[in-house]
Amino acid sequence: MAHSKHRGPLAAAYAAKRPEDVAALYDCWSQTYDADMSAAGYRHPTICLALLARHLPRGAAPLLDAGAGTGLIGEWLDITGYPLVEALDISEGMLAQAARKGVYSALHCLALGGKLPFADDAYAGIISAGVFTSGHVGAEGLDELIRICRPGGIIVLTVKNTLWEAGFAARIAELEAQGLITRIEETRPYVSMPGETDTVPSRGLALRVT
Ligand SMILES: C[S@@+](CC[C@H](N)C(=O)[O-])C[C@H]1O[C@@H](n2cnc3c(N)ncnc32)[C@H](O)[C@@H]1O
Repeated sequence: MAHSKHRGPLAAAYAAKRPEDVAALYDCWSQTYDADMSAAGYRHPTICLALLARHLPRGAAPLLDAGAGTGLIGEWLDITGYPLVEALDISEGMLAQAARKGVYSALHCLALGGKLPFADDAYAGIISAGVFTSGHVGAEGLDELIRICRPGGIIVLTVKNTLWEAGFAARIAELEAQGLITRIEETRPYVSMPGETDTVPSRGLALRVT
């Protein structure tokens, strides 16, 4: 069964302590990731795409797919009219799969969570599905995404409840109070993989950079 196959890598990725461990786990998983996630009914890319398309006009460019993985979202952004999308991921293996989709204008093997080598205001929009979750990236990854997204631009991300309740919600409120972002949309909590045993919900957020 598909979910018993992929409970291993995902559970291990959630429990990973160091970024290099996360990268190694995803490197190993990269070739079967798309099929496994499809079998698990993976929802984050669809939710993120819906939020982005509701708030960012067709053709807005360039976009950054932050934690792009194998590029599930890149394909759909391409189909729905966002012509220039760059991929960033910590895993070379995942990025190699993303490259094969032939839709990204650049691929960056980098870690979210620290300083990023991009100019201020570089992107019209940023999309990050399934990345702000246990063992991956926490609220410390937000500041740089805000810095590299231009004023008026949109950041769409999913946040797992475990993080949300452990300081992420407070950090979003703080950034709003500082006038750096406006929370333009927040979904109700939903389970990202109905075919999985991990049922901790996540939520989708759309933030406008001010
Ligand atoms: C659950 S996958 C989601 C991939 C893709 N966004 C999707 O929805 O299919 C999480 C991705 O985040 C990447 N990742 C984990 N920690 C990261 C970090 N610190 N910096 C950049 N990417 C990271 C992993 O390599 C993996 O590709």
